[in-house]
Amino acid sequence: MTDGLRYDGRVVIVTGAGGGLGRQHALMFGARGARVVVNDLGGGRTGDGSSSAAADRVVEEIRSIGGEAVANYDSVTDGARIVETALEVFGTVDVVVNNAGILRDVSFHKMTDQDWTLLQNIHLNGTCAVTQAAWPVLRDKGYGRVIMTTSAAGIYGNFGQANYAAAKLGILGLANALAEEGRTKNIHVNTIAPIAASRMTETVFPKELLDRLRPEAVSPLVGWLAHELCTETKGLFEVGAGYMAKLRWERTNGYRFGGDFTLDDVARHWDAVVDFTGAEHPVVMHDSLAAVQREG
Ligand code: NAI
Repeated sequence: MTDGLRYDGRVVIVTGAGGGLGRQHALMFGARGARVVVNDLGGGRTGDGSSSAAADRVVEEIRSIGGEAVANYDSVTDGARIVETALEVFGTVDVVVNNAGILRDVSFHKMTDQDWTLLQNIHLNGTCAVTQAAWPVLRDKGYGRVIMTTSAAGIYGNFGQANYAAAKLGILGLANALAEEGRTKNIHVNTIAPIAASRMTETVFPKELLDRLRPEAVSPLVGWLAHELCTETKGLFEVGAGYMAKLRWERTNGYRFGGDFTLDDVARHWDAVVDFTGAEHPVVMHDSLAAVQREG
């Protein structure tokens, strides 16, 4: 029975919830009984400035539909303070949705140290800071749902987004490790790569496409991954405009060189090394070692 899934008694932190995707996630949780910490620094698209208005507005929206919410204006880099808000106001935390983010698009040869460091700080370090502050609470209670936000730019690579792509795929690495650490504690960690119209993408996508990419079409997947009935963990999902799909690693069967071999042998057998016919789908680190050790 999955009609009317709710989060009564659950405390949910959504970072960057003052606008775009985060706002929709927060509204969905608030409408379904969760007590929500609406975090947002209220800065600009490239990380400039700050304001309490964005988070306050979303808290008001949640309250106006009868939900419970509190605002927090800290940067995700001060993750402990965001979790403190949850603990002080609602007494616990059950779900963390790491969503906050900014862009500083620039081609690699023009990228400054600041363009690089700022993006790593907000996306990767910020996601780590919030999650690490919540982690002991989730471990102690033997329950937790963590949703990370990556990007197709990180998964596939994109021109002008080296700083963003690296940070976003760093988040996936963090998620993969935390999914393993959380496995025995009923803490599930999943990652989404959304596509949605927001101030982040309004200059990137054409108008007709933006009209189809409603940010509220991403939230139902976040909601399901955050729900106690969902057993999924260590998943990576592409989601947008009503479409959602799971991604996984694929490895060729590979080629095994016997005895001594040289780079000339590598060149000679390269087609076999990269041939995906009958490919495998490794899921845990041991699958890597097992492949190397396999005979014949
Ligand atoms: P958005 O710019 O509308 O929302 C991001 C929110 O994060 C803003 O409200 C902003 O004030 C907040 N924020 C920024 N830095 C913060 C900080 N240090 N601490 C707390 N809050 C902070 O952008 P959008 O599109 O809603 O993006 C949400 C997430 O989804 C981001 O992580 C983004 O990288 C990711 N994403 C979005 C895609 C899209 O198509 N919109 C594509 C792929 C990934």
